[in-house]
Amino acid sequence: MPADGDLAEAASVLRTGGLVAFPTETVYGLGANALDARAAARIFEAKARPSFDPLITHLAEVADLEPLVGSVPPAVAALAARFWPGPLTLIVDRPEVVPPIVTSGLATMAVRVPDNEYARRLIAAAGVPVAAPSANRFGQLSPTRAEHVVRGLGAAVDVVLDGGPTRCGIESTIVDARGERPVVLRLGALPVEELEKVTGPVTIRPGSSGQPVAPGTLAAHYAPRTPLRLSGAAGVLDGTATEQVGTGRGYLAFRDRPAGDWAAVEVLSPSGDLTEAAARLFEALHRLDAAGVGEIVAEPVPETGVGRAVNDRLRRAAATWAPTP
Ligand code: TXA
Ligand code: MG
Repeated sequence: MPADGDLAEAASVLRTGGLVAFPTETVYGLGANALDARAAARIFEAKARPSFDPLITHLAEVADLEPLVGSVPPAVAALAARFWPGPLTLIVDRPEVVPPIVTSGLATMAVRVPDNEYARRLIAAAGVPVAAPSANRFGQLSPTRAEHVVRGLGAAVDVVLDGGPTRCGIESTIVDARGERPVVLRLGALPVEELEKVTGPVTIRPGSSGQPVAPGTLAAHYAPRTPLRLSGAAGVLDGTATEQVGTGRGYLAFRDRPAGDWAAVEVLSPSGDLTEAAARLFEALHRLDAAGVGEIVAEPVPETGVGRAVNDRLRRAAATWAPTP
């Protein structure tokens, strides 16, 4: 766990234009000073991230929002008050002080206060808002442990703060609550059902076609290096579609161990708990990816609560490996 001195050093690296990977409650973020265009540019370089994919700006406190962006619509303020610190990202107007590279030229900015002590102390000590996407190379599995960051980004990062495994394990829910009816731009760790208790019915936008509103919602994303397909998809059960790259196949199960001969098996939650399954999703995929199997077969989880976000990630990972027509 980071000591005070580590946090102070990381904060000074942020202030002087460096990149710091840090834990949040969702996944590890790759942070840079959001007021420094050159620092933000380094994020895109380190991740090999396309410049059209905007970053999320992180704040230490709910009270830091208004001084940065001015007043926000009441519906947005209400969601911030209710769910921050926490795994909810809100869309606001981009303030002048935040350079356009952070928002990929959009007039809007995504912002949240993470619910992680180290993240908030780091941001507070840096004294600036921190732009941070997930700390993985573009399109690949998100990191839920410091070692995932080191393995994936290595020397491209100046400092990696190790805060242990992340609590939620999948990214924040992104909501645009500026209009009449809130629009969910990305399913995430805050279940839609929780959101709707506050806002009433929301619209869920898959956002995967045309110009992506939230490129984390690109059809192909969050993918392991090993081909992945959903159980029940054509060719899975009879094994005809197995790639002969590695040895055998790996299986990602929700609660029960699968029958049959699998080279590697990961069970997300033996008790059938969706929150636990979400927390372990990327970690399990990282392990299956490292197991040297030729293919990963993944079983969808119940489509409710945070399970919807888990299935969303699995479908996008599978889409990456779907045969091109
Ligand atoms: O949980 C999370 O949100 C993690 C942690 C580190 O906070 N961050 C994360 O960042 O998932 P990233 O870059 O992997 O995903 C950010 C998503 C992208 O899909 C991006 O397109 C969307 O947020 N986004 C950013 N700014 C936006 C905007 N102004 N309008 C719509 N979507 C936006
Ligand atoms: Mg990401």
